[in-house]
Amino acid sequence: MNKTTSEIRQDFLKFFQNKGHIILPGSSLVPEDDSTLLFTNAGMNQFKEIFLGQKKINHSRVVTVQNCLRTGGKHNDLENVGYTSKHHTFFEMLGNFSFNDYFKEEAIQYAWELLTSKKWFNIPEDKLWVSVYKNDYESYKIWKNIIQIPPERIIRIGDKNNCKYNSDNFWQMGDTGPCGPSTEIFYNYSDKLIKNSLEFFKNEGNCFLEIWNIVFIEFNRISKTKIVHLPNKCIDTGMGLERISAVLQNVNSNYDIDIFQELIKNISMLTSIKDLNHVSLRIIADHIRSCAYIISDNIIPSNENRGYVLRRIIRRALRHGHKLGIKEKFFYKLVSTLIKVMGENSDILKKKKEKIKKILKMEEIQFSYTLDKGLKILDDEIKKANSNTLSGETLFYLYDTFGFPIDLTSDVCREKNIKIDYISYKLLKEKQKRESSRKNKFYKNYNNSIIVNDKCLFEGYNKHKTKSVVRYIFIKNQLVKKIMKNETGIIFLDKTTFYGESGGQIGDIGELYNKNSRFIVENTKRYGKSIGHIGKLIIGEIKVHDCISSQINQNYRHSIQINHSATHLLHAALRETFGDDVFQKGSLVSDTHLRFDFSCFKTIKTSHIQKIEHIINMKIRDNILIKAQMLNLEEAKKKKAMCLFENKYSSKVRTVFIKDFSIELCGGTHTKRTGDIGLFKIFSQSSVSSGIKRIEAKTGQKAIAYLHEKDNNIQDISFLLNCNSACIKDKITKLINKTKQLENKIIDFQNKENAKNIKKLVKNANEIKGIKFISHIFHNYEHKLLRTIVNQLKKELKNIVIILVNIIDNHFTIVIGVSKNLINHITAKNIINIIMKKIKGNGGGKEEIAEGGGINTKKLPIILNSMQSWINVKLKNKDDFLIY
Ligand code: ALA
Repeated sequence: MNKTTSEIRQDFLKFFQNKGHIILPGSSLVPEDDSTLLFTNAGMNQFKEIFLGQKKINHSRVVTVQNCLRTGGKHNDLENVGYTSKHHTFFEMLGNFSFNDYFKEEAIQYAWELLTSKKWFNIPEDKLWVSVYKNDYESYKIWKNIIQIPPERIIRIGDKNNCKYNSDNFWQMGDTGPCGPSTEIFYNYSDKLIKNSLEFFKNEGNCFLEIWNIVFIEFNRISKTKIVHLPNKCIDTGMGLERISAVLQNVNSNYDIDIFQELIKNISMLTSIKDLNHVSLRIIADHIRSCAYIISDNIIPSNENRGYVLRRIIRRALRHGHKLGIKEKFFYKLVSTLIKVMGENSDILKKKKEKIKKILKMEEIQFSYTLDKGLKILDDEIKKANSNTLSGETLFYLYDTFGFPIDLTSDVCREKNIKIDYISYKLLKEKQKRESSRKNKFYKNYNNSIIVNDKCLFEGYNKHKTKSVVRYIFIKNQLVKKIMKNETGIIFLDKTTFYGESGGQIGDIGELYNKNSRFIVENTKRYGKSIGHIGKLIIGEIKVHDCISSQINQNYRHSIQINHSATHLLHAALRETFGDDVFQKGSLVSDTHLRFDFSCFKTIKTSHIQKIEHIINMKIRDNILIKAQMLNLEEAKKKKAMCLFENKYSSKVRTVFIKDFSIELCGGTHTKRTGDIGLFKIFSQSSVSSGIKRIEAKTGQKAIAYLHEKDNNIQDISFLLNCNSACIKDKITKLINKTKQLENKIIDFQNKENAKNIKKLVKNANEIKGIKFISHIFHNYEHKLLRTIVNQLKKELKNIVIILVNIIDNHFTIVIGVSKNLINHITAKNIINIIMKKIKGNGGGKEEIAEGGGINTKKLPIILNSMQSWINVKLKNKDDFLIY
């Protein structure tokens, strides 16, 4: 009996546990605090700082099963999914790690024992081949002399393009970070007898599956050209669970293992496809795994960053569903089967099942509106494409108008053997981005290219003032020794009470001073690990190494703090009101107000807003003590702290408690007791994008001022309406009704007038070479009625040019009409352009009708008159077009 994938997963853990390894959970798919990574792509990610010697760990031997996603950056398999038998967007990586404990010899021996011993995986030794880094003689000798693999089955892999460490056997996490030479183990899944390394290379793609990568982490890549030794030697290994399952279940493709077969069968039941090897079935089976796990890590589809990766994968899956002829919404229905097949790794999916289904269904509903249409256009464009390449414009149009991610379009083109002009598409996308960022630019005075990695101690949680030493000074992004009177710059200190803008909380203001100098801090930001005080020196001079006092503006900080604590109360109140689906998606905590973006799929009603305000104001009146504590992540999670990033190996985290009502990981500053907030008032509620809502609120004195302003407005209205505030609603309703009645009366009256006016206008019309020219200026008329007159006159008379103006309070509006048969010579658009140019107004329109307006009413009579001679000139060849 073959082992199931679940059994293989457990065997791996058990084997290394027997070898003294501690089993730790894999980390979240969303890496914490690592801007170099979009998604976790290897088991070692969560240990990066331990490899780098920046953090300590209590265990030197660890084993994990890590959920990984390879959809971008250095490791990207998205394009290959479905088309090869071994690539996935999502996969589970089995890994054993040694932190300054065992190194090459044991790592290789453990791997060999697990793979080949009868007690464990029992793979015949002659099916296994290995590769080593060309200069790694030590590993070569271990394989040859200790494991005793025949030397012809040890492949030595060198550097590509003569570039040191650029090798398939030198593993790197990304463009920077821990790295080192590796040894890989391959399985020959064919019956072909391969004799030597030459034959190995020839048959690698058809016969061999790389199953295990053992990396000897010895280096840190700092930049493209710089690599340095690490203090400790460590082991990082990775074996794809799906691949080892394929080997142990005797199948040639990962898609034939138990997990995938069950998913694929489930999908095929929704279609008439009987061939379980169909590429689309494989792609959908792969994509439901990545999408479900990404959502379980609180990412929702969007047009940016991680949310966009999710959207791209979902939409690609939906396109394949469409291709298979699935008519109903289907993708979310696969979640139940997925939970069933993922065994021990399905806990998080079970917990978030309903949310995952809901989000997948919503995205499918949203995309189904444009999928059909976009595919039809894509099909037409492919037929039209005279070269074999689809243009960048079409790619961009499909992306911009129909929400077609580039990989979806390229997937369709690949099936039809059409290339895509990716470079032009990218240029168009960048242009659009530049234009929209130009529109959004509001405040960016300080160059963020400054990075100072000396840690600055933040003492501002409990104090407003401290004594510091100046470490660095920057003026216009240049490092300088001193700053003089009236210069602006950024000052870095060894310690400070100023909070550097982060986690949504804005930076402090205040001053740095000593006996001889005074620097006004206008903002505080983080640059790398340090905190920059941005401002202007108004007295004396400040030099590097000077002693200085840092003193924040307490009122400003107090306003920020109460908004920050209120934000935590709001987060908790939202979850109490709308359930656990609510997650923070963005936040701003300033001195004037707070803004909180969160995922929520319900419609927010006034009653919800009132309930939320009520909950928060109750907590404020309870005057609860707000406490912050440093905890291990595990402890914090046990206490049910809300964290955006789950599962990262125990670093100490600052946890802010408002009793057990709100427990959040947070580095920001808070007030002492909830009572300090005074009052909480929401002043705006809106939707940011699908599934993301925004609430803005004020607290304390600012909330009171906001209510006062509202009161004043109400009093002004009462005064104008001459009633007390309780009667405002009645009075306004009556006024609206009355206004409507009056408007109707006016329109009735003007309609009657219109009939008379039309007669008059026709009677007074000028004849120019057989056509009628009517121009007239009305006063205080309804603009709508001008249009009615023009349309009616055009119906009654065949050859006519009409210009009607209406003047109200020094403003005018104008409507111009021209009969259809005249438009080859005269158009309404021509006329409006001429008039508007002369009068400096605004207007536009089409050939038969145009409208406009402006303020320069005095010149109107002369200009209208002048149009008569203009028409005269235009009608030189009138016989060509007049209809009698
Ligand atoms: N970190 C190594 C890999 O991902 C083991 O292949």
